[in-house]
Amino acid sequence: MSTSLSAVIDLDLPGPRISRHVYGHFAEHLGRCIYGGFWVGEDSATPNVRGIRSDVVEALRAVRIPNLRWPGGCFADDYHWEDGIGPRDQRPRMVNSHWGDVVEDNSFGTHEFMDLCELLGADPYVSGNVGSGTVREMSDWVEYLTRADDSPMAARRRANGRDEPWRVPFWGLGNEAWGCGGNLRAEQFASLARQYATYTRDHGDNTVYRIAAGANADDYHWTETLMRSFDPLDEDERPAGPYQALSLHYYTMTGPWSDKGDATRFTEDEWYRALSRAGRMETLLARHSTVMDRYDPQKKVGLVVDEWGTWWNVEKGTNPGFLYQQNTLRDALVASLHFDAFHRHADRVVMANIAQTVNVLQAMILTDPESGALVLTPTYHVFAMNAGHHDADSLAVHLKGAPEIESDGRALPLVSASASTRGDTALVSLSNLDATRDHAVTLDLRGRTVSGARARVLTAPALAAHNTPEAPEAVTPVPFDDLRQVPGGLELVLPAHSYLTVELELA
Ligand code: AHR
Repeated sequence: MSTSLSAVIDLDLPGPRISRHVYGHFAEHLGRCIYGGFWVGEDSATPNVRGIRSDVVEALRAVRIPNLRWPGGCFADDYHWEDGIGPRDQRPRMVNSHWGDVVEDNSFGTHEFMDLCELLGADPYVSGNVGSGTVREMSDWVEYLTRADDSPMAARRRANGRDEPWRVPFWGLGNEAWGCGGNLRAEQFASLARQYATYTRDHGDNTVYRIAAGANADDYHWTETLMRSFDPLDEDERPAGPYQALSLHYYTMTGPWSDKGDATRFTEDEWYRALSRAGRMETLLARHSTVMDRYDPQKKVGLVVDEWGTWWNVEKGTNPGFLYQQNTLRDALVASLHFDAFHRHADRVVMANIAQTVNVLQAMILTDPESGALVLTPTYHVFAMNAGHHDADSLAVHLKGAPEIESDGRALPLVSASASTRGDTALVSLSNLDATRDHAVTLDLRGRTVSGARARVLTAPALAAHNTPEAPEAVTPVPFDDLRQVPGGLELVLPAHSYLTVELELA
């Protein structure tokens, strides 16, 4: 064991509320995310409800999935929604040119997606096509989904079997407009976003929160340009618009795009590099927020990190366009670092969506293409352990004496923490990034009396430990009993390379 460090938490000084939507998800028509992951079809031997896998739904309900972004990603800006409604056997086909150049038969479309969201109990986040779609298409899609009366689009929805309008609280205006979404300049997109947002109408009280495609990582110019294009923000509830939020995308990898690093075979140096790069999310949020603050000091415009996570080289023998990768303890800690950053920036970050939920990139769930077996990844378990942060009030955690290591040109603190409170409970999340050493931590808990505590830990002997159909629980949370009550707090030893949560009962 090494150094002793303390985490000071004022339990009686709650900060901004952590939206449950930062625990959001993303499902693209990419590889085996939709087809095989969520959708198996009604005739499948895999247990399903109207074609949707029951085991996947159950696993995601268990972590209280708050929202699901669909249909892309890059795919969204190629997608024409009218191809995905009506009788399945009559739907036109298209080429999924971004992801494997495969033919998409549109059997999973608007009704199937909305059915999936209802089964999940998740809010839909529909990503509209700005890159190759028309303003009219966008406008019609919103009307089709959300209008109650006998308007042309509502009547069409009814003819396709759905009487009541759906609620679609979140609507994306394009995706990566600086890249696959049109290769646009920030200034060009700022105008288009205003135009498309105008026609993404609220129908009655079925209102949508519009999210304009935002910056790539540290492109602060993009954020600045969009913020500058807002009408002056007024005192009303909602920003003067025409949209309510900007997005941000950032992926963690250890090498260049040509060789992003391997999911399960990595050195200790690459372990730290990945975690150091994941830690960049903190800087990105701070700097994009600073830019946004200049135009919107009241923080009415939301920041939505609607793509984040690890992006490794695909698993050997799999289609390079399908982005299938394994998921280790390292991915779990990448996730926990992101959540710490989202919690710390709860005043600006209103939503985040890991890329992607099933079988693609940093997945929560992997399904075996042959046997259909389902595996929960270490990343899934971080979402489960953090469920208590949903809609809780953030608490600042002051870490004193955290050791650091030099990695990827910056000092990486080896322990990260965040916390929240709700009523008479609090939840503290602790990540030990140290590959080899345990760290003793004192939780210095001030302001309220702690009447009870229990903890869970996620770790494994090897840094690259991961779950497979043969060993589905190689990395799974277990109770952690070694909490010692001391005057004013708790003491514990954080195992090397581990993630630990402490639930506190407050008197
Ligand atoms: O998540 C995979 C892809 O990454 C998305 O389609 C795109 O938006 C991003 O570049």
